[in-house]
Amino acid sequence: MPGFEWFGDAERKEVMDVLETGVLFRYGFDAMRNGHWKARTFETELCSRLGVEFCHLCASGTAALATALAACGVGAGDEVIIPPFTFVATVEAVLQVGAIPVFAEIDQTLCLDPRDIPFRITKATRAVVPVHMCGAMARIDQIKQVCDQHGLILIEDACQSLGASFQGKSLGTFGLAGCFSFDPVKTVTCGEGGAVITHDSTVYQNAHQYADHGHDHIGNDRGQENHPILGTNYRISELNAAVGLAQLRKLDDMLTVQRNHKQALKNCLHQFQPVQFRDIPDESGDSATFLTFFMPSESDARNITTELGKAGVDGCAYWYDNNWHYLRKWQHIKKLISSARMPVHLIDPLPDYDQINLPGSDSLMRRTISMQIKLSWSSDEMSRRMAAIETVMSQFSG
Ligand SMILES: Cc1ncc(COP(=O)(O)O)c(C=O)c1O
Repeated sequence: MPGFEWFGDAERKEVMDVLETGVLFRYGFDAMRNGHWKARTFETELCSRLGVEFCHLCASGTAALATALAACGVGAGDEVIIPPFTFVATVEAVLQVGAIPVFAEIDQTLCLDPRDIPFRITKATRAVVPVHMCGAMARIDQIKQVCDQHGLILIEDACQSLGASFQGKSLGTFGLAGCFSFDPVKTVTCGEGGAVITHDSTVYQNAHQYADHGHDHIGNDRGQENHPILGTNYRISELNAAVGLAQLRKLDDMLTVQRNHKQALKNCLHQFQPVQFRDIPDESGDSATFLTFFMPSESDARNITTELGKAGVDGCAYWYDNNWHYLRKWQHIKKLISSARMPVHLIDPLPDYDQINLPGSDSLMRRTISMQIKLSWSSDEMSRRMAAIETVMSQFSG
């Protein structure tokens, strides 16, 4: 990751197809568009790549999450169980549809812990949104089992994990809906974009209508369309979809390179006793965007991250302090600060996210280091990186 490292002629050709027609809109203008339907083609190819029946592209992964929640009927007053290690977008999307985020612990997969979900269920719980973080999977089979047992809707936030799978089945296809992001730092990027996938025709219909002002998309002439439901504008443009289409066609090659780079770095780290790797329930399905490991103590993890940076191993993250990805630093979310009054503000008393107790997650996150895996590394760069890692790690082992 990220896919922009591999931008080239294919992306330029797809974009030029669109610019030459002048049709930047994904719907209508049939006569002008010279047969180019980039969003539609991207959807069809993504469905066949992931093995799912329906896909609807959106303006972003955040829009895809809000669309998926709305399309599955999650809304005002419903509680949605999510992990505290994610991107803030997961929380925002739940709030956006009027629902209430409820945090549960993560486990050594760094994703939602299926054992903790039952303790967070109340009469208001409607859905569970596990997040497949850093390119690899939650214990999605066990999470699905818990959802089925309790009659809860499962929506997967796979925004960071396009191309990853569990036991041969693509992430995003286990629940009622799955979501992806194609933002500028994702494996497949199109600038801004996202996707909702589902096996369910009603969810699909709700999704494409909701994301386009409720239009039913029947017929060729927009003027004749009806509005069966209320919606909004979460549409993707043809320009973004064009870039994404070219990128999607490179996904398998990207995964091969990422996996090779990750394996080499993992082999290098393996020799250092205190390093314990993140649990990945199916290593063969890892999309390999990050190599993540635990150190025995918080101070080791902090110091190693700093030393790796100094040694030129860039792209290392100490997530516990990261204000984009871990609950502890999200002051605006903990205090529910918004310029607008949201449905959650009507709850009396307000959920007190400041008092949230997630000792298991805190303890894991304090010891976690992630290394970003890039597509563009040459073999010289890989050798330099491994030598620097060995120098730093040998100071901390045994
Ligand atoms: C886990 C997760 N969910 C949702 C999103 C939102 O995607 P976007 O940036 O396309 O809105 C992201 C983006 O980084 C993410 O990492």
